[in-house]
Amino acid sequence: MEKHQLSFSTNAKLEKLIGRELITNNIIAIFELIKNSYDAFAHRATIKFENFHITYADTQKKGDGNRVISDFDSKIVIEDDGVGMSFEEVRTKWMEIGTTSKEDKFLEISTEETNDKRIMNGEKGIGRFGTDKLGSLLHLVSIGDGGYEKTIIDIDWNQFDDHTITIQDVAFDCFVERFTKPQKTGLTLEIKSLRDVWTKSDVIKLKRQLSKLISPFSQEQDKFKIYLNYNGQGQEQIEKWQ
Ligand SMILES: Nc1ncnc2c1ncn2[C@@H]1O[C@H](COP(=O)(O)OP(=O)(O)O)[C@@H](O)[C@H]1O
Ligand SMILES: [Mg+2]
Repeated sequence: MEKHQLSFSTNAKLEKLIGRELITNNIIAIFELIKNSYDAFAHRATIKFENFHITYADTQKKGDGNRVISDFDSKIVIEDDGVGMSFEEVRTKWMEIGTTSKEDKFLEISTEETNDKRIMNGEKGIGRFGTDKLGSLLHLVSIGDGGYEKTIIDIDWNQFDDHTITIQDVAFDCFVERFTKPQKTGLTLEIKSLRDVWTKSDVIKLKRQLSKLISPFSQEQDKFKIYLNYNGQGQEQIEKWQ
């Protein structure tokens, strides 16, 4: 009898399982990404619909719910002014599957002016894969390390569809820039090659879902605001659902 040792290995398709199958729909995907903005102590998060056939005025009118509003060149950009991630954090937090850095449920940030305590949403460590649910191409720009470091990475999620390779075989170029003067921190996720066709009613459903993240207390509402932006023109703030 021969003795062997076996360990699990991870096929690249695991990523697809998490991103496209565990996260059930586009609305939940954006909801997860905005929860990450909150967890990163952002004061504002903006969801930009770019190259979409919709205006702010359209969203205020009733009816027309089934109208298709996306196109092949439509983009969804999610931007926040949270603490961002340094290159090292992108490497160890964003790119490492199965980990969450939010084991400590109550985190606080103290600056000279503010002392912000937040109860973390994150726990399952899958929210970032919501970007894959939304579209196959992700352009991530993170300014972290107190504003001194910018990291850019382009991810093509479809490269994980190959079942003959392991997850480690898929690699992407990453660019890092150091600044001498600190920049505004935060994370920007630009998602292209959207997987689904969007209709007007999807946007209405998204607004309703996001309103769940707004605190019922007015003094808390100033801490975290969510905006929707339509093609760089109309912008609206998500309010508590009545
Ligand atoms: N908007 C963001 N700003 C800063 N860091 C982020 C942001 N989104 C995600 N991260 C980092 O990536 C990690 C993974 O996010 P996610 O997959 O949603 O898992 P979880 O929220 O459960 O930790 C987070 O723990 C955090 O460290
Ligand atoms: Mg999360």
